[in-house]
Amino acid sequence: MIDKHSSIPIYYQLAEQIKGRIHRGELAPGDVLPSERDFAEQYDISRMTVRQAITSLVNEGLLYRRKGTGTFVSEPKIEQAVGGLTSFTEDMRSRGLEPASRMLHFGEVPAPGDVALILGIAEGDNVIEMRRIRLADNVPMALETTWLHPSVVHGLTEKEAESSLYSYLEETLGLIIGRAEQALEASLVMPEEADILGVEKGAPVLSIERRTYLADDRPLEVVRSKYRADRYRFMMDLQRAK
Ligand code: GLP
Repeated sequence: MIDKHSSIPIYYQLAEQIKGRIHRGELAPGDVLPSERDFAEQYDISRMTVRQAITSLVNEGLLYRRKGTGTFVSEPKIEQAVGGLTSFTEDMRSRGLEPASRMLHFGEVPAPGDVALILGIAEGDNVIEMRRIRLADNVPMALETTWLHPSVVHGLTEKEAESSLYSYLEETLGLIIGRAEQALEASLVMPEEADILGVEKGAPVLSIERRTYLADDRPLEVVRSKYRADRYRFMMDLQRAK
C-alpha cells in the first residue's frame, strides 16, 4: 500500500492512507490512532516517518495529540458559509447543534477609541460591552467581545444577551439589521484565552471583526471574535465576474 520507489514522499503516502481511513469511517472522531510502532511495523517504515505523517495531520487539524494518552481523530470541522449576515445562534441551530453562551462580562464601559470611531460616538462615551464564550453542544467554539451603540440598543439585559443578541434586537426591539463588513485573519490564541476555549496555548485561531449596521445605516455593533481554527472552516461561494 506504500510505494517506496515512488517520488511521493513516504510520510505523505502514509498521511493519505490515514486520511482515507478517516473518510471511510474506519477511524471515527474520538478514536485513538494506532501507535507509531504499529504503523511502522504494518508498513515497514521508520517511526520517524510515521511521526512526520501524524504531525502533518495534526497540523491539518484531522488529528490531535493529548499528552500522555495518545493521538486521536478530531471531530469534523464546522463549515461556516461566509456571505450571509447570520447570528451564532442561527448558525448552530441550522446544523442541529445547541447554541449557548457563557457571559464573562456585561456592562457599560467608556468606548475604546477605535470602537467609538466606528460607532460614531465620542471616545470615552459609554457603550455596552459584553464578552461571551459561544458554545455548541456545550463545547466552546468562539470567544466574542461585542460593543453596542448605547442609544440604539435599549433595555438589553445580561440574560437576553446570553441567548441571542440578534433575536432580541429584531424581535423585541423591532430593529432591522441591514449589512455588515467583516474581516477574517489568522492569529494565535492569547495565553489567557486558551483555557477558556479549551485549546493548547499558542493554538491557531481565526480572528473575525464584524461591523454591523442597521438597514438605515446607523452603526449597531463592533464585534471581535476568536474562532477555534481546529473546529471551523469558512466557506465562500465565488462567482467569476462577467
Ligand atoms: C455572530 C457574529 C456576531 C454577532 C453574533 C450574534 O457570532 N460574529 O457579530 O453579534 O453572531 O449572535 P447571537 O444572536 O447568537 O447573539
